[in-house]
Amino acid sequence: MNIGWLVAQALLIVWPPYVANATPVLARRVFRGRLHPVDLNRVFIDGRRVLGDGKTYEGLAMGVVLGTLVGYLVDYVIYLMVGSVFKYPSILDSLVMSIAALLGDMLGAFIKRRLGLRRGEPAPLLDQLDFLLASLLALYIINPSLLTVPIIVTAVLITPPIHLATNTGAYLLGLKNEPW
Ligand code: CTP
Ligand code: MG
Repeated sequence: MNIGWLVAQALLIVWPPYVANATPVLARRVFRGRLHPVDLNRVFIDGRRVLGDGKTYEGLAMGVVLGTLVGYLVDYVIYLMVGSVFKYPSILDSLVMSIAALLGDMLGAFIKRRLGLRRGEPAPLLDQLDFLLASLLALYIINPSLLTVPIIVTAVLITPPIHLATNTGAYLLGLKNEPW
């Protein structure tokens, strides 16, 4: 199995959760600061915020809608161009992976708050992989035919550098306060 094929196949599968994870950062612009934190400002038993201001309903809505639609459509266009050399997620796969990506990202934030990390403070690997592992698990449950061990390993290896690069891009564009 060649590496180029594996990377392309892994990217086609994880593209919807990538979009779902990346687009909530736009919520601040789109909703002009009128954001509602998922934890409704509540604190946990340790006295720290349950999730913090970095997880909002507006971000979730943008992530699910854009992850599902943009995630699916871009893959579909690639399918029209290159055909069935690759396996492609269905729109249902895209929806489920997008929802799981956002849940995984919130689980990551929950863990960060319990560790005493403030919103936006870095948690290496957790920041880059929480959403991916959740979406791969969800896809494995609803459509395991898309996943093989080499595809999963490839997705896990390529995601941290891609995540860092796109977050640095968002930081340079002024969309994010931190480059991670
Ligand atoms: N975001 C959002 N809703 C979500 C996820 C993200 O509104 N469900 C927005 C927030 O403005 C957030 C930004 O996207 O600050 C970047 O997301 P992320 O890096 O995941 O959040 P952090 O700010 O780093 O917060 P945390 O430390 O809780 O991960
Ligand atoms: Mg972050």
